[in-house]
Amino acid sequence: MKINENYKNLETSYLFSTIAKKVSQFIENNPQKKVIRLGIGDVTRPLCKSVVDAMNKAVDEMGTPEGFRGYGPEQGYEFLKDEIQNYYKKRNVLLKNDEIFISDGAKSDLGNILDLFSTDNKVLIPDPVYPVYVDTNLMQGRKIEFLEANEENDFLPMPDFNTKADIIYLCSPNNPTGAVYNKEQLKKWVDYALKNNAVILFDAAYECFIDDNNLPHSIFEIEGAKNCAIEFCSFSKTAGFTGTRCGYTVVSDELNFDNMSLNKMWLRRQTTKFNGVPYIVQRGAQAVFSESGQKEIFENINYYKRNAKIIADTLKKHNIYFTGGIHSPYIWLKCPNNMKSWEFFDFLLEKIQVVGTPGAGFGKNGEGFFRLTSFNTYENTLEAMKRLDGIL
Ligand code: MLT
Repeated sequence: MKINENYKNLETSYLFSTIAKKVSQFIENNPQKKVIRLGIGDVTRPLCKSVVDAMNKAVDEMGTPEGFRGYGPEQGYEFLKDEIQNYYKKRNVLLKNDEIFISDGAKSDLGNILDLFSTDNKVLIPDPVYPVYVDTNLMQGRKIEFLEANEENDFLPMPDFNTKADIIYLCSPNNPTGAVYNKEQLKKWVDYALKNNAVILFDAAYECFIDDNNLPHSIFEIEGAKNCAIEFCSFSKTAGFTGTRCGYTVVSDELNFDNMSLNKMWLRRQTTKFNGVPYIVQRGAQAVFSESGQKEIFENINYYKRNAKIIADTLKKHNIYFTGGIHSPYIWLKCPNNMKSWEFFDFLLEKIQVVGTPGAGFGKNGEGFFRLTSFNTYENTLEAMKRLDGIL
């Protein structure tokens, strides 16, 4: 028996597991100290009322002979796909129902989609980046080339038409930097992918944080994208589903390579390896799009935006360079006094018991940077920034 040797090329533990372990250890040694977590992007606002009501109703239905459901439709229930279709229509993106696949979140789909592609493909991944893109490709042994994202290009790298890539990852608004591509920039990426017969894997998990109507929420707002892109989205950050689990992936039926439809391949993959998202959860996700649901989720999103402003204001006060925090729940800052990322992590944990995410965990260009999330409570964010202000 031979193991998958590619696992030897991974860090021993996933970035957020490493941080969680370090924090647990600190708490064990310092039980009297109150730690405030602005590290992993996990939400704190409870599910909104419309979602809870819809899920309660669905639970009741499941307990009756008439309302009980077993396995659901392979790509998700029509009632949820219809809502997603309407949501895209508002931005003039017309999707067919069978181009939408309901999933248990963007992370799993971003990893699983790689089943469709040869391991010979060359992958282009921005650095810094959400570690899942890198790790899932390393697991399959693909060759990765990094796209340099840095202060000079405002953490928005653009394509180099002289180099060839097959699979390209883009995340906008970006995790971890909070940077957002505009339409002209995305158009260049679409042109590049079409020219190179490449596929763009577009992570739109943070689209609901975009505050400017001219910025694209979806890559499908760009002409030609249906022929070269797959989009991943999630209810995690939009509606607080990090523990509830629901997302969706859009694979256009115009996306064909080697006379194979990626939409059909993804359907084949999902029907073989995945049994869908619970009916109860899909009813909850449907309620996100109701009038009351939209009002309630935006109250929560604005709550997090207020936290982001508190963080941003503290950094501005101390002249610390940062990006993000406007169209994104993340604030990406330069560590003060030229500290290294993990050094700053230890410093904050030891001195003020505030947890963030070291930029180096997102790639080599993240060294010297640090990510704070606005997903904690208002009170904890205020307290954390009071502490930070005190030591800066
Ligand atoms: C993060 O902190 O980057 C996110 O929580 C990751 C995720 O959504 O899986």
